[in-house]
Amino acid sequence: SERSYEIDQMISAKAIAARIEALANEIEEEFADTGKLVVVGLLRGSFVFIADLVREIELPIEVDFVETSSYGNAMQSSREVRILKDLRGDIQGRDVLVVEDIVDTGHTLAHVITLLQSRQPRKLRTIALLDKPSRREAPIKADWTGFEIPDEFVVGYGIDYAQRNRNLPYIGKVRFTEG
Ligand code: PRP
Ligand code: MN
Ligand code: MG
Repeated sequence: SERSYEIDQMISAKAIAARIEALANEIEEEFADTGKLVVVGLLRGSFVFIADLVREIELPIEVDFVETSSYGNAMQSSREVRILKDLRGDIQGRDVLVVEDIVDTGHTLAHVITLLQSRQPRKLRTIALLDKPSRREAPIKADWTGFEIPDEFVVGYGIDYAQRNRNLPYIGKVRFTEG
């Protein structure tokens, strides 16, 4: 069973919403000319972020998902990214925006980018709500980042600890307690 812990708020729901509004404006500029944008969420962690983000993007888009797994119930990255569910649609010649909740070691996003690039999209861009640059192992950075954060174990807004806390409306920091 998990160690006992408490959760301290780190980024409020209000701050997240404001940041998403600004990011959506930049995304609209980047993809304004296309009308061929597919927004791809990485399950499960990005499900809250992609839901809020797409509702701020005033462009005709399609939504698709890839399910990856690296951490499972562990706190350490396995460094082996598995594709549990692939895209439903073809992305060749399309513009693609990959939506991730957090870039930590970077292995997940690096793996997905390599996979999707091999299918020859016209343009491939990435966005992550959170970035923990101090933990990076794969040489990668999302094109847009919501918030850069220190090396803390975070949960909420889609992000889990042992599959729990994804439903918190804010980003919280896990603080382990005695006993
Ligand atoms: C988490 C998180 C990112 C990834 C980031 O996913 O949602 O996808 O790890 O870590 P990395 O940069 O070190 O690869 P996880 O594998 O836990 O699956 P989940 O999204 O279903 O929780
Ligand atoms: Mn994930
Ligand atoms: Mg996880």
